[in-house]
Amino acid sequence: MFKVNENYLKLPGSYLFSTIAKKVNAYSQANPDKKVIRLGIGDVTQPLVPAVIRAMHDAVDEMGDAATFRGYAPDLGYGFLREEIAKKDYQERGCPVEADEIFVSDGAKSDCGNIQEIFAPDSRIAVCDPVYPVYVDSNVMAGRTGDYDEARGTWSRVIYMPCTAGNHFVPELPGERPDLIYLCVPNNPTGTTLNRDQLKVWVDYANETGAVILYDGAYEAYIAEEDVPHSIFEIEGARTCAIEFRSFSKNAGFTGVRLGFTVIPKDLKSGDVSVHSLWARRHGTKFNGAPYIVQKAAMAVYSQEGRVQLKDQVAYYMNNAQIIYKGLKEGGYQVYGGVNAPYIWLKVPDHMTSWDFFDWLLEHANVVGTPGSGFGPSGEGYFRLTAFGTYENTMEAMERIRRLNG
Ligand code: MLT
Repeated sequence: MFKVNENYLKLPGSYLFSTIAKKVNAYSQANPDKKVIRLGIGDVTQPLVPAVIRAMHDAVDEMGDAATFRGYAPDLGYGFLREEIAKKDYQERGCPVEADEIFVSDGAKSDCGNIQEIFAPDSRIAVCDPVYPVYVDSNVMAGRTGDYDEARGTWSRVIYMPCTAGNHFVPELPGERPDLIYLCVPNNPTGTTLNRDQLKVWVDYANETGAVILYDGAYEAYIAEEDVPHSIFEIEGARTCAIEFRSFSKNAGFTGVRLGFTVIPKDLKSGDVSVHSLWARRHGTKFNGAPYIVQKAAMAVYSQEGRVQLKDQVAYYMNNAQIIYKGLKEGGYQVYGGVNAPYIWLKVPDHMTSWDFFDWLLEHANVVGTPGSGFGPSGEGYFRLTAFGTYENTMEAMERIRRLNG
């Protein structure tokens, strides 16, 4: 009889956002008259901007002409896009990143989930708690996380770095030594961030201890404050200890289009072995390149016109963030995030768990959010709302929450 990968059997429940979707669908089916507002998963609602649409149409036309048709894309990404990313996202910010250190993919989620494959099976991972569940779940699947303690919601071989109101949601250096450190900055789910000095502490620590920082910068476009770095490669020393993941989902609305990239500096080595070459090997074997149409669309993100249009789109979502933040504050909630990130993290009333609050809000306000405990044990007692809804729905959701409190 064949055998399955038993690590999968250790995973508790389904993926967080699938569980939420199932609950919400069941509620909607039982209550077809209720208009449910979804501020749970961080999925965008605004259409692709005109510059992107035009670039996509042009690329579709090229694909319809024998003279310009293209088959498989280069597995690591088209040169035109890798050059543009290196220049506009990195070199113009003073980061020493070259085009051949950029790996274009179908999104940051896939890369964040897959990157662990190129590290030793017994690597110890450190994660913030609460944390984007992909980092932990993908290591569970690889058999790296030990045993699950159901009562605590923790894995025996995972090093947790609690991020609580007590430490302003800033992770502290771990007591035990990790090999791989996942950091998401600006943070999903707490919406908080690290400034330059705080990030430098992590880079120095990783270089001193021989760890790798797996730096998820998916929310970079939402950074508003001056002293928050847009890339870990702004920090001296990062080239020998960091990998950065970036996404076109949140800065350009590509959640349904799919595109992202990973930066692996050639200076990142384990002994003589270059991590860059391992990832190139993995990418070449398992990935056939992101579509030409999508990579051409991404070029428009960096155009003058695209930049202006996308700045407006980010401002639209951040206006929602302000509406949620202020509305909740006025309602007496303790609220965090929402300044450099499109997520608002709130403390739920004392007598409730995160899931109690989820059910209560769905039932009484028909508003969907994400329970903090779904992101890890330190998320218990908290709740996440996303600013990616429409302005109208955000206003209405806040009005409904205000009425509940009133
Ligand atoms: C989230 O809601 O945390 C994100 O949308 C998930 C993702 O980007 O995969």
